Amino acid sequence: MERTLAILKPDCVSANKMGRVLDRIENAGFKIIGMKMVRLNAATAGKFYEVHKERPFYQDLVQFMSSDRCVALVLEKDNAVADFRKLIGATDPAEAEPGTIRREFATSKQNNIVHGSDSPENARIEIGFFFSERELVENA
Ligand code: CDP
Ligand code: MG
Repeated sequence: MERTLAILKPDCVSANKMGRVLDRIENAGFKIIGMKMVRLNAATAGKFYEVHKERPFYQDLVQFMSSDRCVALVLEKDNAVADFRKLIGATDPAEAEPGTIRREFATSKQNNIVHGSDSPENARIEIGFFFSERELVENA
């Protein structure tokens, strides 16, 4: 069984869209094995997105990600990383396929509701960013 890291971003939490997004995730067959509400500070948000630090959108992204609470999720499913990316759709909701979470709920390329790991290797790193192994229910 593969794992991926998802984050319900501040736009999802503050606009009360968590329930609907979680419903989509559960209905797509993902098992939630870790779940944590966090308020990232700018330093922590900056570290999470460090790979983008030279990109023009980085400062705005860090500000957005630290603007309200997030919910970090560890999801388990066969092929979880690729299947979750497919479920959320393209980064820009205008380019995301109809029926995807970002197409349905996101309001801009930055405020795109949800994060999903882009490879199994990054999923392991990102899960470790938010969770210790004993916080993941199957291993408690
Ligand atoms: O989240 P995803 O992997 O689809 O996209 P990314 O290229 O890894 O970018 C990370 C996040 O930065 C996106 O989810 C957006 O919130 C934000 N972003 C942005 O604000 N403007 C861009 N041109 C690209 C990304
Ligand atoms: Mg990415």
